[in-house]
Amino acid sequence: MDSDLIKLVNKLQDTFHNLGGELDMPQLVVVGSQSAGKSSVLETIVGRDFLPRGSGIITRRPLVLQLIHSPISEDNPPPYTEWGQFLHLDKRFTDFDEIRKEIEQETFRVAGQNKGISKLPISLRIYSPNVLDLTLVDLPGLTKIPVGDQPSDIERQIRNLVSEYISKANSVILAVSPANVDLANSESLKLARSVDPQGRRTIGVLTKLDLMDAGTNALDILTGRVYPLKLGFIGVVNRSQQDINSAKSINIAHKNGTKYLAQSLNKVLMNHIREKLPDMKARLNTLMGQAQQELNSFGDAAVFGDKNQQGGLILRLMTQFARDFVSSIEGTNVAVS
Ligand code: GDP
Ligand code: NA
Ligand code: MG
Repeated sequence: MDSDLIKLVNKLQDTFHNLGGELDMPQLVVVGSQSAGKSSVLETIVGRDFLPRGSGIITRRPLVLQLIHSPISEDNPPPYTEWGQFLHLDKRFTDFDEIRKEIEQETFRVAGQNKGISKLPISLRIYSPNVLDLTLVDLPGLTKIPVGDQPSDIERQIRNLVSEYISKANSVILAVSPANVDLANSESLKLARSVDPQGRRTIGVLTKLDLMDAGTNALDILTGRVYPLKLGFIGVVNRSQQDINSAKSINIAHKNGTKYLAQSLNKVLMNHIREKLPDMKARLNTLMGQAQQELNSFGDAAVFGDKNQQGGLILRLMTQFARDFVSSIEGTNVAVS
């Protein structure tokens, strides 16, 4: 059922695209203070080692990461069934270390050699038999004090950039907080609450469980006794800097929480899409009406062999496709509601 829904939504997205519209798809956005473990959490979800991580400000441009489930097949034969493709570069990356280097270079190219940030996102698609269909957004960490050549209002700049992504009603917020810092000081939860006061689309992610002070109890947080969130908290242990330096495999390092994390995310995302289906349908209808109008404006010209003919035919085909599509969504609505 869920994978059918994913396919349906993918098709819907294509349809919007073909009709010249844009479908605001739900996406998962990580938010948290610098070095909270945001990039590490995303790597954990993907199950591959490919993002620049470390202490200090590493993520300096938004990274829009589209995971595309591609089963092994004739079109996707071994040995390279997992690969990455950037929007800015016509090249298939099968080496994930190279992906990291390209992200670093692209960051330097646009955001400079020092510690500046840029709002301009890097777009990366990852094709793999081992991922769920998800769009993830990695963002610079919330910070207080300017370093290097950062402007004095860096705190506000990053806050605005993050807010831009998480204030969208279709963003699911992964509010990342490290377990070794008091949750009362969590910048991510504060910012998430400012755009999602009801906590309807915020998931708490507690990282660094391995670094917690002795005597503190993560259970109180994970069970929602400290900070209640409708969608709850998930605890994870990502790789430490030492693990990374010693090239410890991502597979060995990940503890149980991470599989649960991916499953929970999938569930949340699917619920989100279900909620949005009626709205998508309405918007599709509007776009169809516009396409129809445009088609009519071609009038009889479409019948003759002038240069409008092609456009008219394409519009007609697309409109027909969209109409078929809306009826298929109507069927789905009944099935999922
Ligand atoms: P970001 O700035 O929020 O994207 O954080 P990163 O993912 O870059 O992680 C910052 C540092 O914390 C890196 O050195 C990671 O190895 C380390 N780190 C992240 N998560 C964990 C964790 O669960 N446990 C431990 N021990 N270290 C972690
Ligand atoms: Na970092
Ligand atoms: Mg990061």
